[in-house]
Amino acid sequence: MTEPTRLTLAIQKSGRLSKESIHLLKACGIQFQLHEQRLIAHSTSYPIDLLRVRDDDIPGLVMDGVVDLGIVGENVLEEARLERQQEQRAASFTALRQLDFGYCRLSLAVPNEFDYQGVQSLNNKKIATTYPRLTEAFLRQQGVTAQTVMLTGSVEVAPRAGLADAICDLVSTGATLEANGLSEQDVIFRSQVKLIQSQTPLPEAKQSLINKLLDRLDGVQLAKE
Ligand code: PRP
Ligand code: ZN
Ligand code: MG
Repeated sequence: MTEPTRLTLAIQKSGRLSKESIHLLKACGIQFQLHEQRLIAHSTSYPIDLLRVRDDDIPGLVMDGVVDLGIVGENVLEEARLERQQEQRAASFTALRQLDFGYCRLSLAVPNEFDYQGVQSLNNKKIATTYPRLTEAFLRQQGVTAQTVMLTGSVEVAPRAGLADAICDLVSTGATLEANGLSEQDVIFRSQVKLIQSQTPLPEAKQSLINKLLDRLDGVQLAKE
């Protein structure tokens, strides 16, 4: 269990953001040891507990006030916010800082042989994505009617597998698209990483620890520039 007196911070357990999240926390003087099998790591230098979870779970944990802080990509954050708004569940959080890593874009891509003449070419097509709400919001705004097919992974193989005509997925270097014979067409969302806080009011000791950490974080980010 998490203790009420310790600050809880959720980070991605394994994936694109894990290494840099951990690196940043250590640079801020938060010392801890990670054990592969454990969900929680207790810091030895501050009353802070790190929770290592799937990145997709981080927005909800913060929005429900289950953890105090989270480090998460805006792509995952915005998708969760839209989903929870639609379901009329708590969807608010406080954005504390933009962090200087995890840059990527969410883009529409089609097989190289697809004759793409702009987003209108996606009318009545199937689009595989892990981000159906962001995708649908963009298409709606463009006046395009298409069907999204939700996949939590391997989105890039969906067209070849006959599951969809196009995809809407994260692109960083573009290597995944290229390896799968897909070409990037329209960027629908640009993302970086954010440090967010739950809107549940905190005891003063916890809030002042957060403020202290923010000072350190600002120092670390400034030193990188
Ligand atoms: C994203 C995306 C692609 C890859 C693109 O996955 O789904 O697989 O990154 O990167 P590239 O343009 O550099 O090839 P991510 O690492 O976020 O993992 P996930 O899909 O498991 O969330
Ligand atoms: Zn993910
Ligand atoms: Mg992927």
